[in-house]
Amino acid sequence: MNSTIILKGNILYTPRPSEFVAIQQGYVIAVDGVVVHCGESIPPAYGEHPITDYGDHLIIPPGFVDTHAHAPQYCNRGLGMDKELLPWLETYTFPEEAKFSDKEYARLVYGAFVHDLWRNGTTRSILFGTIHKDSTLVLMELLQKAGLSAYVGKVNMDRNSPEFLIEDTHQSLADTKEWLEASAQFGPLVKPIITPRFVPSCTSELMSGLGNLAQAYNVPVQSHLSENHGEIDWVAALLPEAANYTDVYYEHHLMGGKVPTVMAHCIHLSDVEMDRMAETQTMVSHCPYSNVNLSSGIAPIRKLFERKIPIGLGSDISGGHIVSMAKVLTEAIGLSKMKWVEVDQMYAPLTLSEAFYMATKGGGKFFGKVGSFEKGCELDALVIDDTTLFDPNERSLEERLERWLYVGDDRHIVERYVAGKVAPEPTN
Ligand code: GUN
Ligand code: FE
Repeated sequence: MNSTIILKGNILYTPRPSEFVAIQQGYVIAVDGVVVHCGESIPPAYGEHPITDYGDHLIIPPGFVDTHAHAPQYCNRGLGMDKELLPWLETYTFPEEAKFSDKEYARLVYGAFVHDLWRNGTTRSILFGTIHKDSTLVLMELLQKAGLSAYVGKVNMDRNSPEFLIEDTHQSLADTKEWLEASAQFGPLVKPIITPRFVPSCTSELMSGLGNLAQAYNVPVQSHLSENHGEIDWVAALLPEAANYTDVYYEHHLMGGKVPTVMAHCIHLSDVEMDRMAETQTMVSHCPYSNVNLSSGIAPIRKLFERKIPIGLGSDISGGHIVSMAKVLTEAIGLSKMKWVEVDQMYAPLTLSEAFYMATKGGGKFFGKVGSFEKGCELDALVIDDTTLFDPNERSLEERLERWLYVGDDRHIVERYVAGKVAPEPTN
């Protein structure tokens, strides 16, 4: 293909958590969707190529990365926010997910959800579907059509679940295999991820089978870990021989193998569990809105960060009610301030660059080289026109970005790029 694109504008990215690179009127150049240059001028070799000039707009990577969301819970946003995790699942979540046995209902809801991802500039996401393989394939098809990148999971659950949302163990594994094979029809941007819901809803036999499939098919893994005290006590009662919640996944080869794993929440991990997360380089998906809504707690993000555990941010639709990762990012900062002021002065609050890093390059690591404008990264980008955010004062590029993250919204996103291509508004 060998296509070259050159974008011009005010460029901002975080190569490291502690640092914004800001380039006034800079250029980002990509060949075949991969960044070859980002700087203040165009190297002579690219001098002949046309330039897409975005004037005074901001250009940020990668778009945003949402490392944890439940697509079938889209219509439940804002419901049951007076409940904690386990009653919330029983009352709201499971009955809604059961409806996805109907592919037409799935197409309706997933179409709206994918459109909302696009609208909010989430170019990459790691998603839960439901136990239904055909509906999960519908979600993958819609993401592919929209030109968005995602890991999508057919959920597995074979115990402690209502009869309308439970699988037979062998059927669950057979369906997962069939679905993994059917997933090969999608391109490099939309891929499968093995998805045991969480330990309470999966037998040991199912988890072992899924661990084997992940390794055999070279497919990553996602689940939930240490979200809520009732959940943690339940896991301890179900598996009294296990050293801790984290080790249940580890012992079933669902983390620490050759494929990467992302675990949502990780709020109440012990030091030993954090050591395991660090040793296996398992990614934490921090979901601040969800943790507030379901009274789950405040994750020790600074501590996880210092232990070099990879961290991304997640909307956790619909534990969280907000799709916009710009807002998830600012909520992560706010919650870290509450931890610092109310709980422990050792946990310094997150800075803007740290939170931005988590929402871009931090989560982007799960996809390879994504989330930055450094050489070798896939070119995902958002172009932001903040002129209607009235401000007659001179501001730095960082200040303009901070202001947009806090008070702006999707109306200011004028273009979205995924892997070097413009993603136009999805039509379904
Ligand atoms: N744990 C198991 N299932 C779920 C879910 O759907 N949402 C959240 N937030 N936690 C879970
Ligand atoms: Fe979740």
